Amino acid sequence: MNETYYPLKKVAAIFGGPELKEEITRLEESGVIPSQVKYRSGALYRKGFKESDLPLIGEKVGFFRKFSSPVSLCVFTTKGGVLKSTLALNLARTGALHGLKTCVVGLDIQGDVTTALGFDDGIEDSGDLNYILEKLNRTKGLSDVFSNSVRLNETIVSTDNENLFLIPETPELVALNDSLSNINRREFWLKEKVIDPLKQHFDLIIMDCSPNWNKLTTNALVACDALVSPLECKINNFRNFKVFSTFLEEFKAEMRMNFESIFVPTKYSLNRKLSQDILEWYRGNVEGCIAGAIRESVSGEEATAMNKSLIEHCPGKVVSDEMMSVLMEVHGRVEALIEQRDFESQNTDSYNYGTSTESQENVWR
Ligand SMILES: Nc1ncnc2c1ncn2[C@@H]1O[C@H](COP(=O)(O)OP(=O)(O)OP(=O)(O)O)[C@@H](O)[C@H]1O
Ligand SMILES: [Mg+2]
Repeated sequence: MNETYYPLKKVAAIFGGPELKEEITRLEESGVIPSQVKYRSGALYRKGFKESDLPLIGEKVGFFRKFSSPVSLCVFTTKGGVLKSTLALNLARTGALHGLKTCVVGLDIQGDVTTALGFDDGIEDSGDLNYILEKLNRTKGLSDVFSNSVRLNETIVSTDNENLFLIPETPELVALNDSLSNINRREFWLKEKVIDPLKQHFDLIIMDCSPNWNKLTTNALVACDALVSPLECKINNFRNFKVFSTFLEEFKAEMRMNFESIFVPTKYSLNRKLSQDILEWYRGNVEGCIAGAIRESVSGEEATAMNKSLIEHCPGKVVSDEMMSVLMEVHGRVEALIEQRDFESQNTDSYNYGTSTESQENVWR
C-alpha cells in the first residue's frame, strides 16, 4: 500500500492552525517527533510527515488530549440523517489521531459507521463470492458475545489508523436487540459485558446508535459517560427534539442515571433565515447545547465517503474548522465531567462505577 505523506502546513492545519508550524518544527529538530521525509509528488520532490507519525504529533501539539480515565460516549438522537454517524466517525478518528486508543462500537443495523471506517472496503470489488462469504462468516459481532460463542476481544477489528478499532455492526444486531428484552438487568448488558471491559484497554469508546429508542440504544445510554446528540437546524427536528428531550429526562429519572447531555447543532444553512433562527433558539434554550455548529456542506459528505474525518479531509476549510471547534467543545465538556467524577470517586470509598476488575478481565478473556 502507498504511504500517505502530510506536509508541515497540512499537519499544522489538522491539529489547530498555521500557528502550530513553529512548535512542530521545534519538536522535529529536538527529535521528539520523527523527521519529515522526502517523497515524490508528481514530477516534484516534497517533504512531509508519514501518516503513521500523526498520532505522536497530535499528542504533543493537538487539541484533543487524553482524558484522565477512560471515557465512553453515546451518539444518539431519535432523528435520522442528522450527522450521528458523522459525529461518531469524527470523534473517533480525531481521538485516534491524537494518540488515544479508540474503539467504535457500532449499534445501528444500517452499519454506516462500520462502512465509514472502511471495514467493507473492497469486499464487493473483489468479485469473489467465496472470499466475500468467508469474510462475512468470519465477522463476529456483539450478538456472538451475548451467546457466549466468542470472547469480546475476538469481535474487535483494526482500521487504517493504528489507534483506532471497531466492533462492526452485523445483521444479528436485530436478534441481539430482541434478546436484550428478555434478560434480567436488560439495560445493563452492554455496560457490564462490553463497555466496562473495553475501558480496561481503550481511552475512548464511541457508540454509534440508530435513530430508534430500542434496547441497544437504552443499553448505550446506560453505558455512556456522556451523550452526544445532534440537533439538526431544520423545522422537523425542532419538533422532534421536544419529544426526544422529554423521553430522555423520563429515561434518566427512571434509570436514576445522570449522564451529561451534549447537544451539537448540525446541518445549519447560511442561506436560510429559518435555519439560522432555529440555531439561535437551540443555543439560547437547550441546556447542554454547545456554542459551535456544523453547517450543511458537500465536503462533509465527501469526507465520510472517503472514510476520513473532516480535519483530515479538508483541514483549514470553514466546515473543517467548525468541526474542530465542536470537537474541542465536546472534549472540554467531557474532560470537566471526568475530572469531577474522578474527584468524587477519590472522596467516596464506596463509589463503584462498574463491575469489578476481576469480572471485567474474565469477560475480556
Ligand atoms: N456537513 C454535512 N452537511 C451535509 N451532509 C453531511 C455533512 N456531513 C456528512 N454529511 C452526510 O449526511 C448524511 C447523513 O449523515 P449521517 O449518516 O452521519 O446521519 P445519521 O444521523 O447517522 O443518520 P442515520 O439516522 O440514518 O444513522 C451522510 O451521507 C453524510 O455523509
Ligand atoms: Mg447513523
